[in-house]
Amino acid sequence: MDVEELTRFEQSQIGERQPLPDRYLGLSDDEMAERIARTRAELGERLLILGHHYQRDEVIRFADCTGDSFKLARQAAGRHDADYIVFCGVHFMAESADVLSAPRQQVILPDLAAGCSMADMAAADQLEVCWDELQALGATDVVPVTYINSAASIKAFCGERGGVVCTSGNAEPTLRWAWARGRQILFLPDQHLGRNTAYRMGVPLDEMVVWDPDLPYGGVEAEALRNARMILWKGHCSVHTRFTVPQVEHVRRSHPGARVIVHPECTWDVVQAADDCGSTEYIIDKVTGSPPGSTWAIGTEIHLVSRLAARLAPERTILTLDPIGCLCSTMFRVSPNHLLWVLDALRDGVIHNRIVVPEREKEWTRVALDRMLEIH
Ligand code: 13P
Ligand code: SF4
Repeated sequence: MDVEELTRFEQSQIGERQPLPDRYLGLSDDEMAERIARTRAELGERLLILGHHYQRDEVIRFADCTGDSFKLARQAAGRHDADYIVFCGVHFMAESADVLSAPRQQVILPDLAAGCSMADMAAADQLEVCWDELQALGATDVVPVTYINSAASIKAFCGERGGVVCTSGNAEPTLRWAWARGRQILFLPDQHLGRNTAYRMGVPLDEMVVWDPDLPYGGVEAEALRNARMILWKGHCSVHTRFTVPQVEHVRRSHPGARVIVHPECTWDVVQAADDCGSTEYIIDKVTGSPPGSTWAIGTEIHLVSRLAARLAPERTILTLDPIGCLCSTMFRVSPNHLLWVLDALRDGVIHNRIVVPEREKEWTRVALDRMLEIH
């Protein structure tokens, strides 16, 4: 994805994306690793590197802390000692870190083009229209819940209207929290996480509607809206929606006894066909804690799966559900070259690719994120 392809929102947030200087191209893996380690050591306690589980091996090996979105947000909120937080992940994660960290801390995303296509599926102006239309249709007791995979402007909107942010790690208690405060939930931007979580909590599919922001009044019938407990924004993850039921069936035939575990961004039918479902941290913990001799087929991003397979072999057999392997191309944007470049610059007192959430959005984004951190 090029900067030109980023959404209106991201362009306004990102500003100028500086190209990687030529001198950072064509370095050998060993040279890069050696230089990153050296610069990191020079920066010492002033630097905190956070790494999401989907990052490449050559990058995540330098992370001081790895985790899912929830765990990394907690780290950002709790580690006020470092001057710089280099976030090896995607844009919305770095934005959350900027809001949750102390004002004097600076958050850096090694490549500003590391966005998230799902987060781009909900823009603040679309949400405003949706909210007005819901009111016009009589849906006035709605709590907005946004997945952390969304822009800060969306989080701020939710915070200001009594809503909250959730992650795949705390989606169920968050929905409980929201239904204690309103009859209906507007869940965005991932319809699948919303549907899978609500269904698991006993809400039937016919009490959920999909709101298409590109259609007038979301394309939703007034009667269906009245009956709905969940209003699901029509967004999805292009990586996780690649997993299919035939893939689950295939693995059950080829590896009888294998357990299938998937991320809740997968479609409802895939989650139903799987044995278990949870955040990236949950998947890692569950598989790591399984008895030796277990076989697992995993439906999530390939870097997590490959790393787990290598770490747990030969005691456990770990397979990817998708034979081609699902890659998140925006997570992949963060290369060791970019990491070395931003670290070298920090050592020299120069900041590249800082993520700054505008002041006007910060307050309500923080409210929504603080509520998230309290729910688990
Ligand atoms: P986790 O919070 O489960 O790590 O998920 C983040 C994400 O973007 C999954 O696609
Ligand atoms: Fe976004 Fe999907 Fe990549 Fe996660 S895997 S960062 S939801 S595009």
